[in-house]
Amino acid sequence: MAGTEPLRVGLAGLGTVGAGVLRLLAGNGAAIAARAGRPLRVTAVSARDRARDRGSDLSGAAWEADPVALALRPDVDVLVEVIGGTGPALAAVEAALGAGKAVVTANKAMLALHGAALAARADARGAALRWEAAVAGGIPVIKALGEGLPGNRITRVMGVLNGTCNYILTTMEKTGADYADVLADAQRLGYAEADPAVDVGGIDAAHKLALLAALAFGTRVDFAGVAIRGIGEITLADIRRAADMGYRVKLLGVARMNADGLEQRMEPCLVPAGSTLGGLEGVTNAVAIEGDAVGQVTMVGPGAGAGPTASAVIGDLVDIARGNVRPAFGLPAAALARPERSSVGSEAAYYLRLTLRDRPGALAQVATVLGEHDVSIDRMRQYGHRGTEAPVVILTHPTEGRTVSAALAGIAALDVSLADPVALRIEEV
Ligand code: HSE
Repeated sequence: MAGTEPLRVGLAGLGTVGAGVLRLLAGNGAAIAARAGRPLRVTAVSARDRARDRGSDLSGAAWEADPVALALRPDVDVLVEVIGGTGPALAAVEAALGAGKAVVTANKAMLALHGAALAARADARGAALRWEAAVAGGIPVIKALGEGLPGNRITRVMGVLNGTCNYILTTMEKTGADYADVLADAQRLGYAEADPAVDVGGIDAAHKLALLAALAFGTRVDFAGVAIRGIGEITLADIRRAADMGYRVKLLGVARMNADGLEQRMEPCLVPAGSTLGGLEGVTNAVAIEGDAVGQVTMVGPGAGAGPTASAVIGDLVDIARGNVRPAFGLPAAALARPERSSVGSEAAYYLRLTLRDRPGALAQVATVLGEHDVSIDRMRQYGHRGTEAPVVILTHPTEGRTVSAALAGIAALDVSLADPVALRIEEV
């Protein structure tokens, strides 16, 4: 496809990301063309509302109300899909790939649910399907994993992959502000998904983790195999107590290949405050990749917002303009293995938040339950007491997640337990 003719782009979606792509092409178009070997020209656009002012001159681009019609236009070589969701976006992507056209997408939900089928469709027509913008915003991690690290056997991928959640957790910590106020800020700043429950519930980040895992381990995307827990139950007290013990709370995704299969988890975890992942502030994302030859490579950068996501879209467009086409998930779709799911998962230490009746023997009862489940205590702190309630934090030695769950059920059943106990994994990073 490389040549001096322009690469003709059909842009489906003119929200935060679509408008960012137009702005970036308008501002840096000449340098981008020099790097791509030919100009990138937006020949047609599609969005829900034609009248809205997006701050960019669209007079040179044709308008299509239907993104499928956009994808099939003869003056469109590549579809940039930044609509999101799995309705019209999926139909347009399927149409483009079916017609043998390249697709660049930021749509993590669509790829997490339909990635394997879309990759097969792309392969069948020799079309490129590129998705740098779907994971970790402006961090070029898909390129790093797909093109920089294929010499390695990847052993673990970890990521802080949702800017909104990290913004909420770190802003609460810094300002003591309410969860709801901070979330409203994230929405105002254009970081949050249309339905912010998708962010705070861990779904958005889990979509991204499933995509990274597929690329890292050569497996079919298995979003249903991700164990997901959002940040809704994290309190300011957890954040402060974790800090007190040298940790920070992050919504962390971990994918690793265990002896019995693929483990994929997205959950709030404690990580050492002094680590790279522990130090992330605001909407910053990070991805750490561990390979047998390279060791650990960590990439940090903005994970959400117009500029960073547009930067990732343009990176993919430049590759397509140059004719740099590789399979969507690193291997031909037919060679991607269906992953076995790890049944046990890996061991870790845990942070336990308990609310106990403040009376003699309460802790002894808790210690007995933990002992009965073979869970060993590493550290313990009681944080004063409110009336007859005593907030207690226990850090355990490494143990299996299912053992901790069983022990928590035992603690919850004690008459000295005044609220459901909560356990957070402490991930070694
Ligand atoms: N809502 C997402 C986030 C946007 O907060 O990270 C980028 O995918």
